[in-house]
Amino acid sequence: MDLGLKGKVALVTGAGSQIGFGKQIALLLAKEGCDAVAVTDINLDDAKLTMEEIKKIGKKSIAVKADITNPADVAILIKKVVDEYKRIDVLCNVAGGIASRVPYDQGKPEDWDKDIRLNLYSIMLTCQSVLPNMREKKAGAIVNIGSGSTRMYSHGTGNTYAISKAGVDTFTKQLAFNEAKNGIRCNCVAPGPAPTNFIPGPDKQAMVNMLAKTIPMGRGATQTDIANATIFFASDLSSYVTGAVLHVSGGSVLD
Ligand SMILES: NC(=O)c1ccc[n+]([C@@H]2O[C@H](COP(=O)([O-])OP(=O)(O)OC[C@H]3O[C@@H](n4cnc5c(N)ncnc54)[C@H](O)[C@@H]3O)[C@@H](O)[C@H]2O)c1
Repeated sequence: MDLGLKGKVALVTGAGSQIGFGKQIALLLAKEGCDAVAVTDINLDDAKLTMEEIKKIGKKSIAVKADITNPADVAILIKKVVDEYKRIDVLCNVAGGIASRVPYDQGKPEDWDKDIRLNLYSIMLTCQSVLPNMREKKAGAIVNIGSGSTRMYSHGTGNTYAISKAGVDTFTKQLAFNEAKNGIRCNCVAPGPAPTNFIPGPDKQAMVNMLAKTIPMGRGATQTDIANATIFFASDLSSYVTGAVLHVSGGSVLD
């Protein structure tokens, strides 16, 4: 099936982790037709590994180091990608994680700030920088990675993490509403637990299996589950969908 990705340029944040969602999303975008997939991460060596795999698929790629909580880094990142490829058609905001596990009744604003900066401000920053290019073309697809923690009891995640990801849901809808007239769609994929570096400890699959005991489908998510849902929103398959939050979590969120 032609997903309408041929000739398109994508940017994926958080694509360094070799067992993370970002890498899987970047590779699937390349396989499904994108002409170029730029990858970024705070860890450049890891991002370069993903870049090499994209090139092996026969697609163009660059790896750029950026701390997505830093406005200057984000501005330079977007400029580099636009200078290289002249356009960004697809932006996947994947980088994120739990920055503070301090409960809200014990934490200080500085603790809360860490989660909000990493998961919410980062996405606002990348979107702010990418929008001029997308508006110029009157086209673009933005996919934000949210979290099932916004609708489930904690699954070991922190309170402020869940709150920051709820902000991602609302930001997705605000952006979708405001940019629809400019041909830009924005949607959110909210994963259930998956064995990435997000999961602490050496045996990530064992930890996910334990968490999955309360999941109706009886298993955790895979990186492929999340990449498939992301490709749906990144591609023309979802050309009439914007402002949606899709829970990819085995039936654990009835939403
Ligand atoms: N794995 C899960 O169970 C799960 C569940 C729900 C949501 N999520 C979300 O999925 C997204 C991807 O995480 P993952 O599961 O692939 O985890 P991961 O830890 O494997 O990958 C996250 C990547 O983000 C990068 N990163 C972290 N902080 C950064 C920063 N300041 N600047 C740039 N890059 C940074 C890391 O270096 C890493 O490569 C995150 O937003 C996470 O909150 C994960």
